[in-house]
Amino acid sequence: MCGIVGVLGHHEVAPILVEALKRLEYRGYDSAGIATVNNGRLDRRRAVGKLVNLSDLLVHEPLAGKAGIGHTRWATHGAPNVANAHPHCAGSVAVVHNGIIENYRELRSELAQNGMGHETDTDTETVALLADYHLKQGLSPSEAARATVARLEGAYALCFLFDGETDLLIAARKGSPLAIGHGDNEMFVGSDAIALAPLTDRITYLEEGDFAVVTRDGVTITDFNGELANRDIRTIQIDNARVDKAGHKHFMAKEIAEQPVVIGDTLSHYLTDDGRDVVLPGDGIDFTSIDRLTMVACGTAYYACLTAKYWFEQLARMPVEVDIASEFRYREPPISARTAALFVSQSGETADTLAALRYCEPHAQTILSVVNVPESSIARESNLALPIHAGAEIGVASTKAFTCQLTVLLLLALKAAKDRGTITDDRLADILSSLRGLPALINNVLEQDTTFRKCARLLAETDNVLFLGRGLMYPLALEGALKLKEISYIHAEAYASGELKHGPIALIDKKMPVVVMAPRDALFDKTVSNMQEVMARGGKILLVTDGPGAKEANEGVWRSLTMPEVDPILSPILYALPAQLLAYHTAVAKGTDVDQPRNLAKSVTVE
Ligand code: F6R
Repeated sequence: MCGIVGVLGHHEVAPILVEALKRLEYRGYDSAGIATVNNGRLDRRRAVGKLVNLSDLLVHEPLAGKAGIGHTRWATHGAPNVANAHPHCAGSVAVVHNGIIENYRELRSELAQNGMGHETDTDTETVALLADYHLKQGLSPSEAARATVARLEGAYALCFLFDGETDLLIAARKGSPLAIGHGDNEMFVGSDAIALAPLTDRITYLEEGDFAVVTRDGVTITDFNGELANRDIRTIQIDNARVDKAGHKHFMAKEIAEQPVVIGDTLSHYLTDDGRDVVLPGDGIDFTSIDRLTMVACGTAYYACLTAKYWFEQLARMPVEVDIASEFRYREPPISARTAALFVSQSGETADTLAALRYCEPHAQTILSVVNVPESSIARESNLALPIHAGAEIGVASTKAFTCQLTVLLLLALKAAKDRGTITDDRLADILSSLRGLPALINNVLEQDTTFRKCARLLAETDNVLFLGRGLMYPLALEGALKLKEISYIHAEAYASGELKHGPIALIDKKMPVVVMAPRDALFDKTVSNMQEVMARGGKILLVTDGPGAKEANEGVWRSLTMPEVDPILSPILYALPAQLLAYHTAVAKGTDVDQPRNLAKSVTVE
């Protein structure tokens, strides 16, 4: 994680750097800092916590200069304090870094033997020290940076700034994304194009092993061996107005409320004009030549994959394996012929998911991805990228991206079912028609906001919550528990309802609410039996069901929330709403930082 930025401008760069960092704060908010070269001298300002603290500091202690670098940190090595905040400086070098330098201890002791001691707990300081060491050996700044990068093991996106150099930035990429922005006799470096969006729409994405020498005249990119590398300049379209809460108290509230519109948007990109068939972008994919699907992701995106497994298996009769990216990438799983690998990622930059994709590249027949950022590394490295069209998601807890991921995955499963002849035309038409009606049902759930708020006030008083679900509701229960713990800091766990009696039922007492997600579907009676087992032991049930479900099973439950009726195959998308709303209102009741919960970052670019 961490966000980095660099600017060679015409004007004072401090405000430009801070503005760009604002757009990168989703990558971490443990500390922030900038460095500039002013009158030939390096200087820096750093502050712990959110970017606003750095902005305040700059009011009292401004920083002049037309060349600079900036950083927003998600701490990996060393506590979030000022000493560990980037930019790190050593002698004539300042550097910002995203990633992890794995051999920093070894480099540190080597540097210590040369009389260059460290002052911070970070791996990044070693990079600055090493570059300064090479400068002291008489190398030019770009030679020193190249010699430094040659010694680094691990993952990094780096940007260097040098004392006495007002027209030079050096950027290098290995394992962490980095983009170069082309302005009008100005140049920029950023962790992603979003950071640079107000400055330029002309972007060059660095590739693995690229080393870029940036001046106001342009950029020269070579690989790590010094061979010139040809990289395109792309003109990209990125939403500029991403920092507007549109009257909501939090981005998360805005993003929850946007779901009817964005899901409608997603559908419009994947349905034919008459809404009766699924169309995929580009050349699409023909599922008749594919026998298996391997799906890989992290966190909420992983739960979207778990849900999709049910869809692909039930609708397309296609075997599906689902895995957590951080496990998959190191397990060296065999991948049989005629397998497609599918990666789901909102950011498209999650380090583990990207590494899993790269593992599959030589093995899998086709690499598919479901992403929210079409220019992301995961999208660019796929044979077919399926955008979810959710729009920028700022709240750290994923909401609209999750439901749009589910929508695209369901459409993909329907396409697979159609290609493989496992669905009748009538059933396909039924599901597509229900999908078109889904935004209206979501609106209906949103209208019950007050009911969710009241229920959440009760959850806010508890220390532990259990979520239960069966079939398609099981992944949703997992998502509900994740949402609640990440923003309200309440301990929450989820189980498949049938697993309860194999251990977790021991936890049941009067104090722990058990949220049961159960539309009146084919598995409803089974879930109700599990619910009874909880109530028989004094457990408090919060039942989320539909009208018929409430009629049958409300007796004796602690609280119940009634959802609109929906085709059971779509229920995970609709039931994501109560999971999100309960978590949101619980967090608000507890007064936590909803959009930027502690210890988290939106884009996880370290493993
Ligand atoms: C939870 C959440 C995370 C992400 C996970 C993967 O609300 O947002 O669990 O889903 O970090 O991120 P992406 O989808 O960007 O790969």
